[in-house]
Amino acid sequence: MSLTVAIDGPAAAGKGTIARAVAEHFGFAHLDTGLLYRAVGRRTLNGEGAIMAAQSLTAEDVADADALRTPDVAQAASQVAAMPEVRAALVDFQRAFARRIGGAVLDGRDIGTVICPDAEVKLFVTATDDVRARRRHKELVGKGHEVTLEEVAADLAERDRRDAARITAPMTAAADALLLDTSTLSIDDAVARAIERVGQQASAAI
Ligand code: CDP
Ligand code: CDP
Repeated sequence: MSLTVAIDGPAAAGKGTIARAVAEHFGFAHLDTGLLYRAVGRRTLNGEGAIMAAQSLTAEDVADADALRTPDVAQAASQVAAMPEVRAALVDFQRAFARRIGGAVLDGRDIGTVICPDAEVKLFVTATDDVRARRRHKELVGKGHEVTLEEVAADLAERDRRDAARITAPMTAAADALLLDTSTLSIDDAVARAIERVGQQASAAI
């Protein structure tokens, strides 16, 4: 059986953490689709055109995930992500990944709405602005980045605004998504809720 789990939500809500844990628990493959947009964004920072970059993306572009997880690359990602041609160039790869035999978890902004509208399980992960900024700040400082909480909060707010307002595939919860507010949840509790939901839907889908 091939089951698809779609996880969307705003920046630093816990999507990736939950997606990785769900994939590990069920033995599914995991794709962090934000890395694709970050890789395109990074290539534009190096002077390349966004559409060309998206159309010629390779595994090598996303190999060093840590190098892509910086605020300047995130901003560039959110800018290129508003371009319909960039999004179109990345659709087939994501859909093929979602159909993997054995199951797949994809996390991003438009997985449950555009990439996999037929996904068996959809989660929309949220947390308050303040909680998300604190978590991402802690994470970046822990990796040695010199960035203030205010700068991180501004980056998240600007990206969320742009991601929700764009015309093509805006960030929004699918009508059939389960809303998971992780503001007061530990990672373990958030993961447990997600696993419970996937387990319920998986037995319903058999
Ligand atoms: O993928 P997304 O940007 O939505 O978030 P993430 O990278 O999974 O999580 C952002 C940060 O919040 C990470 O450092 C997680 O460890 C942390 N986190 C947390 O403290 N509590 C949660 N319930 C979920 C994530
Ligand atoms: O980890 P975080 O939530 O901060 O960001 P990300 O998931 O790595 O995504 C970076 C940027 O890529 C987002 O701000 C969006 O502009 C874009 N993105 C998108 O448009 N659609 C997706 N499916 C995933 C990411």
